[in-house]
Amino acid sequence: MTMLRTVVLGCGSYLPSRVVSNAELAASVDTSDEWIVQRTGIRQRHVAAEGELTSDLAIHAARAALASAHVDPQTIDLIVLATSTPDNTFPASAVTVQAGLGITRGAAFDLQAVCSGFVFALATADGLLRTGTYKRALVIGAETFSRILDWSDRTTCVLFGDGAGAVVLEAQQQPGERDDRGILTTHLRSDGRHKSKLYVDGGPSSTRTVGFLRMEGRAVFKHAVAMITDVIEDAFRTTGYTANDIDWFVPHQANKRIIDDSAKKLGIAPEKVVMTVSQHGNTSAASIPLALNTAVKDGRIKKGDLVLLEAMGGGFTWGSALLRW
Ligand code: UT7
Repeated sequence: MTMLRTVVLGCGSYLPSRVVSNAELAASVDTSDEWIVQRTGIRQRHVAAEGELTSDLAIHAARAALASAHVDPQTIDLIVLATSTPDNTFPASAVTVQAGLGITRGAAFDLQAVCSGFVFALATADGLLRTGTYKRALVIGAETFSRILDWSDRTTCVLFGDGAGAVVLEAQQQPGERDDRGILTTHLRSDGRHKSKLYVDGGPSSTRTVGFLRMEGRAVFKHAVAMITDVIEDAFRTTGYTANDIDWFVPHQANKRIIDDSAKKLGIAPEKVVMTVSQHGNTSAASIPLALNTAVKDGRIKKGDLVLLEAMGGGFTWGSALLRW
C-alpha cells in the first residue's frame, strides 16, 4: 500500500567568511593547536561578522538548498528553523527567513533542541508533511554560537563555531516498502535531569540577559556515546536495517573522538563516516546539514543511499533519523 514519505529534494549550507584557527585562539587563551586537535579534531571555526545574524546565515543556506533542489521558494509552505541563537527573543528567526526568501504563505517557526535541533526539526517537519497538510518544507539549522561564548573560557570557546545548513523536503507517495526513498524513521529523546551539564547562564525569564554557554565537557562526553548508540539502535530495530546496510553515517559534529567511538560501538566502517568537525567545530544545529551538504557536493552521498543521522546535546536531547536519499 502506498504511503506519504518525506523525501529530500536538495541541500545547501553556508559558513561565514571569517576563519579563526586554533593558533589564533591560542594567542588569547591558554590553549594550543595540539590540545584542540588531539582532544576534539577541530582545526578551525568560522565566526559571523559584526551585524551578520543567524537569520542571514539561514537565508544563505536556504537559498543554496532551494537552488540545488530546483525549487521555487513560493512553493515552500513550511519552514522549521532549528536554532538556540535566534536573532531576537521573538519573533522566531524563521519568520525573518521566510520574509527574506519572499515567502508569504504557510507556516514558519523556530525549534530549540540545541545540538539535536536539526534532527528534532527534521522529525517535526516529517510529521507535518506526512499529515498531508503541508507539501514542501525547508528545514534549516543555523547558529551564531560565537555570540554566546565566553571567549576567556578555554574549556568552551575552542569548541564551537557559526554556520548554517538546510534541506528542502517534499511529501511524496512511495510504495510503502523498506527501500522507499525519504525519511524511514526518526527517534527523539530528552532527559532534563542533565540540564545543568550544558546550558546558557542567561535568558529573558531568568536574568533578562543573553548569557554565556557553560559546559561540564567531561560529563557530556561520558553520556554522549551511550545515548547516541541507544537511539541509533532504535532506528535499526524499527526498520530492520543494520550497521552493514548504512551507506553514510552523518553524525552531529561535536568531537571527532565521540564520532569515532560511536561508529566503532555500532560497527559502522570508518570510511562510511562523514566528518567535517575539523573545518567548522561544533556548529550545534547546523552541523548535520553542513556535513550532509559536504558529502552531497563531493559526490559521496547519491540518490538511493541509506543515510543515518544522529545528534546529542544540551538538555540533554538526543535523536536519530534514518533516510534514503
Ligand atoms: O554537541 C554536544 C555538546 N558538546 C560535546 O559533545 C562536548 C563533549 N565533551 C568533549 O568533547 C570533551 O570533554 C572536551 C573536548 C570538552 C574536553 O576533552 P576531555 O578529554 O574531556 O578533557 P577534560 O575536560 O578532561 O580536560 C583535560 C585537561 C584539564 O586539565 P587538568 O585538569 O587535567 O589539568 C583541562 O583543564 O585539559 C584542560 N583543558 C584544556 N587545555 C588546553 C580544557 N580545555 C583546554 C583547552 N586547552 N582548550
